[in-house]
Amino acid sequence: MKRKIVFLTGAGISQESGIPTFRDSIDGLWENNKVEDVATVSGVFSDINRSETFFNSLKQKISECSPNAAHIAIADLAKDSENFEVIVLTQNVDDLHRRSGTPVEKTIELHGNIFRNRCRSHPDISGTDFKEARGCSYTGAHYDENWKFPQACPRCHKPATFSPDVVLFGEALDFSALSDAEYHASTADLFIQIGTSMEVFPVAALIESVPISKRAYIDIEKPEKNGIYEYEFIGKAAEITPKVCNMIKEQKL
Ligand code: OAD
Repeated sequence: MKRKIVFLTGAGISQESGIPTFRDSIDGLWENNKVEDVATVSGVFSDINRSETFFNSLKQKISECSPNAAHIAIADLAKDSENFEVIVLTQNVDDLHRRSGTPVEKTIELHGNIFRNRCRSHPDISGTDFKEARGCSYTGAHYDENWKFPQACPRCHKPATFSPDVVLFGEALDFSALSDAEYHASTADLFIQIGTSMEVFPVAALIESVPISKRAYIDIEKPEKNGIYEYEFIGKAAEITPKVCNMIKEQKL
């Protein structure tokens, strides 16, 4: 019988790829920008030029980074589809799971993907084609210094609401992505949390449906609470994750 292995990843998994974690980056990532100017819907659309510069500089930094051994180990485990069903739930918008080879249909990007664009005029539409219905388009993980917010949504043709598909402060997560994530978390044989402070809801609540006996934890810091994970691995994601994936393959975990 196939084992279902669900990974929930946060900024810590990409730290060794050179992308600062959210908490470490308050100075670096946001540079001279106020969060309310570049990371809220009203801020983003109040000054398109400023937002283009901000998102372009993020895209430039991210496109210069590569998947590390943690992303690659997960993608390798996913290749063994005879024995495992691997699902990646990620809060990262950096595209590194996709670039490491984890199948797109097995990766749920709960906070979006900076290399995809999305129109915010459309109401949430559930279903498999919701991204297309919302006018989403994936531009590939490359940086183009001349990149501009798309001129118009291919679906509703409105110009000012089409921007990178990242969940901004105050915005709801995509309903369909969240309910798929809830389903996978609750049906996991093993749920492995990597490099996330679990401070941001609703993603942090996903673990609630996983029995403690099925929970594993990988992080450089010890968990804040004792006894809520069956397995704890303290260390850098890029060092620990390949070992954990080998343990899974060898049926030691
Ligand atoms: P955080 O920055 O809150 O937490 C990063 C976690 O990674 C911490 O627990 C660190 O101890 C750990 N960490 C750092 N370096 C590591 C390494 N090399 N190996 C393993 N662990 C490491 O990032 P997230 O939990 O991802 O949302 O933040 C969640 C969300 O908060 C983000 O997606 C973002 C933010 O609001 C949105 O933008 C919508």
